[in-house]
Amino acid sequence: MAGDTHNFTPALGHATLTPLYDSAIAVLTREGRWRNALVQQIAPKATDVIVDVGCGTGTLVLMLKRVAPSATIIGLDPDPAVLDLAKAKAQRAGVEIIFERGFANEVQRLAELGVTKAVSSLVFHQTPMSEKRAGVLAMHDALLPSGELHVADYGLQRTPLMRTLFRQIQRLDGVENTTPNAEGVLPRLMSEAGFVDVTETVVIPTPTGSISLYLARKG
Ligand SMILES: C[S@@+](CC[C@H](N)C(=O)[O-])C[C@H]1O[C@@H](n2cnc3c(N)ncnc32)[C@H](O)[C@@H]1O
Repeated sequence: MAGDTHNFTPALGHATLTPLYDSAIAVLTREGRWRNALVQQIAPKATDVIVDVGCGTGTLVLMLKRVAPSATIIGLDPDPAVLDLAKAKAQRAGVEIIFERGFANEVQRLAELGVTKAVSSLVFHQTPMSEKRAGVLAMHDALLPSGELHVADYGLQRTPLMRTLFRQIQRLDGVENTTPNAEGVLPRLMSEAGFVDVTETVVIPTPTGSISLYLARKG
């Protein structure tokens, strides 16, 4: 799907750090807490077709497949290096996951698969405003009517402590792309894209700022 391999921020902010991603994320984000909450919120079922936008090393798609082995799970990411890590993890786990190379703003091309749930974690804080907007809109367009959107990402940083801790992420991923998230832009973009019942379901403080889970529905 993707023609451009350069115009994205790699998983840990720099391509050389990508192999360290899984260990770093475990320490820096209270990963078990927010990922388990996200999987519970997504509640994958056998009949679901779920696309994970910016799937990275594939941790979330593997968790979803474990809960619902018959579900169709697709991981989408523009970075061939991170997709190789994800494919290797899926192979080691012996599970069948469809991996596609592509940007968030291209995900509507998967609509023909009958997508019931579009999910994403820790992606939009890394992307420029134009890609946040286009990505959320493309997730809306990819979904079947009444399909669900589930996002976990750094959201509104509500306290001085969380704003201070979030500066570590801003140093890694750049101030320009991360600031709109910290100011709480994601739910607004979801509503603008046409999602209804947009809800911030939980806010989880972490050593690098607070991570919010969002749930919305295609009207
Ligand atoms: C911080 S990692 C998160 C990976 C994974 N979702 C997770 O929860 O561990 C961000 C991922 O988003 C991908 N990415 C960056 N820009 C993107 C874009 N415009 N569209 C889709 N994915 C993008 C990166 O390649 C990277 O794998």
